[in-house]
Amino acid sequence: MTNKLKYFVGNWKMFGSFSSLKNIYRIHRFCVKFNKARKKNKIILCVPNTLIYFFTKKFRSKIISIGAQNCHHHQTKGSFTGSVNAKMLKNVGAKYIILGHSESRHEGDTNQLIKKKIKSALNQQLYVIFCIGETYSEKIRKKTFSVLKNQLKSSMDKKINLNNIIIAYEPVWSIGTGKIPKIDSLRNIFRFIKNEFKKNLKTKTSPPVLYGGSVNDKNITKFTSILEIDGFLIGGASRSSKKFIDIIKNYYK
Ligand code: PGA
Repeated sequence: MTNKLKYFVGNWKMFGSFSSLKNIYRIHRFCVKFNKARKKNKIILCVPNTLIYFFTKKFRSKIISIGAQNCHHHQTKGSFTGSVNAKMLKNVGAKYIILGHSESRHEGDTNQLIKKKIKSALNQQLYVIFCIGETYSEKIRKKTFSVLKNQLKSSMDKKINLNNIIIAYEPVWSIGTGKIPKIDSLRNIFRFIKNEFKKNLKTKTSPPVLYGGSVNDKNITKFTSILEIDGFLIGGASRSSKKFIDIIKNYYK
């Protein structure tokens, strides 16, 4: 295990209410104590848009940041019924944003659209958590590397601000299914993503790369041997403060 900063990102999806603030307080109380011994965890909770303002007003913390889960690609105001752009999310207090999540891709987000969204979020100085990952049918057709390569290449502008990008590798077949990749293949995939990124953007450093897909308090220990993993994007298990805290605790056991 290294001393590098580790990210634990919660993706609450379409769950949560004002009363979920107590969960955030619990996570915060735990992290204040825990990080004293090991100052290396960054907690990001990506919550529904309706809760961002409330949470960021009620709660200020260096350890926990609040993020959004998607935005409209248009940078300015416009006639886009039901949509919210990156600027609006920034205005209500979001610091991070998940883009390219497979559930958003399923609703119609293409690589080209995601590219526009990434650009508009970065223009607002939001930190982007850019999700990539193959489907089950792509996996069994041995297309994982070509899919990841294409997602990275077609959604990322060469001139982007590298400091504001985090990548999350989320195999679609693993999200919400309880299935996780084999550790050896995961290690290779992480190496591939980091190398591809450096090659594409002609840079010597790769951004943090997170793993997401069925992470829970039991299987988290399986990931500790992969030094290339810079953190986790956690869906279902992040809605319980206890499970979320146990994931962090067990990771360091
Ligand atoms: P999961 O979701 O942890 O419930 O599999 C992960 C995600 O959708 O980001």
